[in-house]
Amino acid sequence: MTRPAKPGKPGKPAKPGAAPDAAPDRPPGAAAAPRPPDDAPLTARAMRLARAGKRRPAAKAAANPLREGLRLERMPDPALFVLFGATGDLAHRKVVPALFQLWRTNLLPHEFSVVAIGRRPYTDEAFRAELRASLDQFSRVLPIETAVWDAFAERITYHRGDFGDEALYDGLATRLDELDAKRGTGGNRCYYLATQPSAFAPIIGGLGRAGLDHEHHGGGWRRIVVEKPFGRDLTSAIRLNREVGKVFRESQVYRIDHYLGKETVRNILVFRFGNGIFEPIWNRRYVDHVQITVAESIGVEKRGSFYEEAGASRDFLQNHLMQLLALVAMEPPTTFGADALRDEKVKVLRAIEPMTPADAAANVVRGQYGPGWVAGEPVAGYRKEPDVDPESETETYIGARLFVDDWRWAGVPFYLRAGKRLPKRATEIAVQFKQVPHALFKGSNADPEANLLALRIQPDEGILLRFAAKVPGLGVDVRSVNMDFTYGSAFSVDSPDAYETLILDALLGDASLFTRSDEVEKAWGIVTPVLDAWADEPPPAFPNYAAGSWGPEAADALLLGDGRRWRRI
Ligand code: BG6
Repeated sequence: MTRPAKPGKPGKPAKPGAAPDAAPDRPPGAAAAPRPPDDAPLTARAMRLARAGKRRPAAKAAANPLREGLRLERMPDPALFVLFGATGDLAHRKVVPALFQLWRTNLLPHEFSVVAIGRRPYTDEAFRAELRASLDQFSRVLPIETAVWDAFAERITYHRGDFGDEALYDGLATRLDELDAKRGTGGNRCYYLATQPSAFAPIIGGLGRAGLDHEHHGGGWRRIVVEKPFGRDLTSAIRLNREVGKVFRESQVYRIDHYLGKETVRNILVFRFGNGIFEPIWNRRYVDHVQITVAESIGVEKRGSFYEEAGASRDFLQNHLMQLLALVAMEPPTTFGADALRDEKVKVLRAIEPMTPADAAANVVRGQYGPGWVAGEPVAGYRKEPDVDPESETETYIGARLFVDDWRWAGVPFYLRAGKRLPKRATEIAVQFKQVPHALFKGSNADPEANLLALRIQPDEGILLRFAAKVPGLGVDVRSVNMDFTYGSAFSVDSPDAYETLILDALLGDASLFTRSDEVEKAWGIVTPVLDAWADEPPPAFPNYAAGSWGPEAADALLLGDGRRWRRI
């Protein structure tokens, strides 16, 4: 965790004695306005300068020229952020810490309020106290400055209700109108569904019936952010898209895959299309194959019942792995606009042929961890995890070989793997280039390895390029060496959490980092035939890999059959 040199000073601190439900410093019904000048700078440049001044000594900032030209922040409109599932794990771990971080770094407007909705009874004060405790655990910047928290907490109100109960939405309509008037949020609303997936359709239906989607009533925009998983197969994803589409236009819908908000994932496009030298070799002529790894050392933790329903194919393959693949394989978009970008990603997914059962058997492997050792500690097998069936057939590892059948990639395998309880946490995209056509250095002690480019998504974020070099000496001995870029040493700034980026983008109305309906369906169109093929097969002999190992033997065999190996990370 990084601690700021000095606590930031976003929003005005709370006025002593202010009523908890009142807008701290605005008369009721007043029009939305930017933050007052004494409170926060108005221009992005001024904000940046102010932040640099507040948070880091200027000399340090100036010392690293690579910090110059960092992203220009924009200020979202005043808005009500309506958080469904506010008492849940995701809200406490990710959504609220991200909102608070945006607030404390002056990236939310003064007229911003959170309406937290959950089933359990809470007073505003009791709910705020729980959030405050969670921040101590989950905020990426500690300590939490009391005055900053107080100002933010005043903007949070709790609303109790059952998502399936129609009365919730009528009551909410009145409450949101009142809050709009009181807090000057201009009728702008961002609905955020951090609930169980089973609640998505009832909430969307309820919002629609109560007219809470209408942008023309009372003015202001309405957007909805939907968490993953979006459906559990192609049929349910199409059904859910249809339910969403009955109420919201596609341009109002923001489907989250939090990997797209990661700084290193966003950098894939900059790396590919902001540099002239990589794109000409980014194709089947030069690339032998691509490996995408999402390894986790953790098990299923407290999410046994969720994982029993999902498994690695739904938890990782349909979303995170497919998104990484699409970003690596896509053609350059004409612009960075949301639709241009997503059109290109969809084309990649369309170029992956859905598998027959025989294809699935030959190209996809699954595993489940048994007991083992991770980081020197003994850990239980998946079947012994809380809320997991002792005879569970759910996969905690998935490995796949896919082909993108287009002009650029024909014949180049993309090997994908993701698993829990692997030896370490590591997400990486490795582009393995072909060997040189003619081996000139046969006399060398070791064969030079082919060039490799590894995009390290997390941790130890960076990019590595492997190439051959002559070992100093009188003979000609050739060895592979690495050129290594790390974010930590190049940029003396911390990366935002993916949720900060995504929530800010949703509030700004930028959908580029969110998945479109056709994209979600195409990804399910690739994964569902595999799930169907598995459903028709006898259950696998699980567990088939020990916790702390790199997955089942079949995963190694998948590559060995092609004369290749998984990269050792
Ligand atoms: C989530 C999965 O989408 O991503 C979890 O549901 C997983 O199972 C998590 O642990 C990993 O996210 P990150 O950002 O830690 O790589």
